[in-house]
Amino acid sequence: MTSREFDRIGVIGLGTMGAGIAEVFARNGYAVTGVEINDEALERGRQHLEHSTGRAVARGKLTEAEQAELLGRITFTTEMKDLADADFVVEAVVESLDIKKSVFRTLDDIVDADAILATNTSSLSVTEISAASGHPGRVVGVHFFNPAPVQNLVEVIRTVVTEPDVLADVQALLAELGKSPVVCGDRAGFIANTLLFGYLNHAVAMYESHYATREDLDAAMRYGCGYPMGPLALLDLIGLDTAYEILDTMYKQGRDRLHAPAPILKQMVTAGLLGRKSGRGFYTYE
Ligand code: CAA
Repeated sequence: MTSREFDRIGVIGLGTMGAGIAEVFARNGYAVTGVEINDEALERGRQHLEHSTGRAVARGKLTEAEQAELLGRITFTTEMKDLADADFVVEAVVESLDIKKSVFRTLDDIVDADAILATNTSSLSVTEISAASGHPGRVVGVHFFNPAPVQNLVEVIRTVVTEPDVLADVQALLAELGKSPVVCGDRAGFIANTLLFGYLNHAVAMYESHYATREDLDAAMRYGCGYPMGPLALLDLIGLDTAYEILDTMYKQGRDRLHAPAPILKQMVTAGLLGRKSGRGFYTYE
């Protein structure tokens, strides 16, 4: 049970994560307002949602009527002011502190005084982002994992000023969605990425030094350790640009050599090899 009523959810940014988060809420019956920066990005977000729910239809998990109902719950817009009636807003724009801060500043004049504002940042400081809001006590981090409709974990990040009822309501809301929320403080990487990215970076370094092929590196972790995906395939799923940013931020904050991005990662990003989303990363996709 939450102390607030959540009817309409706002999602700002409909990239891989934002679209996935919008899908999670819409699947659970919530009305969702999805905001993008321009018509082109909005159309990409819509297509992402159609594709993802279409997959569920193809696998017999959703009927076509349920898919239409789910998509019908989502309003697509390029206007932030359309978030006026949202009770819970998740920001999932690019990992830029300046852009995220500007989103939170803008939201202050739009949403109700009681609305909870959340950032899906993977590595930036939730405290810094929340300081851009006039109501930092109502700001939390909600870190979903990729693919958001599938992965159950959501890290809920509290800052030193997050109000206890806000934290409790967000945990309850996520649990109601069937997610497994865990709570942690505000440190780059939070729990899972701090543990995961040292490993992923190490795999890239092994690949870079021609120690083993990408297939063998991935097979070792899948068949030896039971991971659903090998590290290089997972990096392609996460996006090499996102992975680089996460590692770089963690390295700058913690100065742990584990997180110093392997040089080839930056080179691949510069060359436009971003993983699945660009059609090529460590592997090539159709
Ligand atoms: N969107 C929606 N649903 C998806 C999906 C997507 N992108 N990808 C897969 N699915 C669904 C499928 O429809 C299928 O659903 P059903 O079981 O209901 O039919 C289910 O997930 C399994 O999919 P597949 O059979 O196609 O493939 P799989 O069994 O190999 O699973 C996977 C795919 C879920 C991606 C799995 O390989 C996996 O869990 N990989 C690890 C992912 C991971 O570690 N994510 C965390 C990344 S780190 C992160 O996100 C944090 C950050 O800050 C970057």
